Amino acid sequence: MGNYEFIKTRVEEATGIIELHRPDVLNALNRKMVDEIVEALERYDQSEDIRVIVITGSQKVFAAGADIDEMADDTPVSMELRNQFAVWDRISLVKKPVIAAVNGYALGGAFELVLNCDLIFAGETAKFGFPEINLGVMPGAGGTQRLAKTMGKAKALEWLWTGEHMSAKEVYQYGVINKVVAPEILMDEVLKYTAKLSRQAPLSVRLIKEAVNKVTDSTLEEGLLLERKNFYLLFGSEDQKEGMKAFIEKRKPDFKGK
Ligand code: CAA
Repeated sequence: MGNYEFIKTRVEEATGIIELHRPDVLNALNRKMVDEIVEALERYDQSEDIRVIVITGSQKVFAAGADIDEMADDTPVSMELRNQFAVWDRISLVKKPVIAAVNGYALGGAFELVLNCDLIFAGETAKFGFPEINLGVMPGAGGTQRLAKTMGKAKALEWLWTGEHMSAKEVYQYGVINKVVAPEILMDEVLKYTAKLSRQAPLSVRLIKEAVNKVTDSTLEEGLLLERKNFYLLFGSEDQKEGMKAFIEKRKPDFKGK
């Protein structure tokens, strides 16, 4: 895949992996790195060989947030003119499942990147948090909204106001992340899950993602309508015919994503 400066990409079976790689500054997310992540996500989303996408960091750190050096001299006008966070909106347009695999720190903008993913797996020693308040700012790439929606308003405010780090166990307890495992087996566990997910009917995976995301983005009525539309739509796919036929014939289905 493309030539990147701050990320590495690789493919394992049908899983496209994006690894944040800026080790000198704990993978701090500068603008170029965010552009690269989004471009890689979109490429994997378009690729016929990829069914699931994983975003990860190193064993030591996922990422320590947005690059503070790069932002320090910004002004409201420079950010407005650059439309700083517009690129982040493209992450939620990715149709395939995106899983975050987190070891070490996932702070500030990095926690926001993680919260943009569909599922979050973490090592036991991972640390999450929004330390922006300690810099005299606040999260700007969706952190307040997404944290409050998953964790609830009171707990989210508590963490956002203190800026303290949360352990993987704590965020798990509040339903923010899916699974906590020993750090050294994190990637194996993620790949075991993505192998399973890669065998599921791709159109169902895609439309379920769209329908579930509707829960947080809309009223119940809109969500129910979208769910129904997607359910009907799947009956126009070859995979629905294959899936049901395979069940009746007592064999494993061979899904093609059509
Ligand atoms: N931006 C730029 N550089 C960073 C950075 C960041 N977010 N986080 C760490 N670094 C750099 C440090 O400056 C240091 O560089 P030097 O070796 O050149 O001095 C290097 O990475 C290692 O960092 P530390 O020496 O601080 O490592 P540590 O293990 O002692 O501490 C840490 C780790 C607790 C994560 C600490 O680095 C830290 O608190 N980092 C800042 C975290 C933060 O505030 N993130 C939010 C950023 S704002 C944001 O994300 C806004 C948004 O919503 C989009």
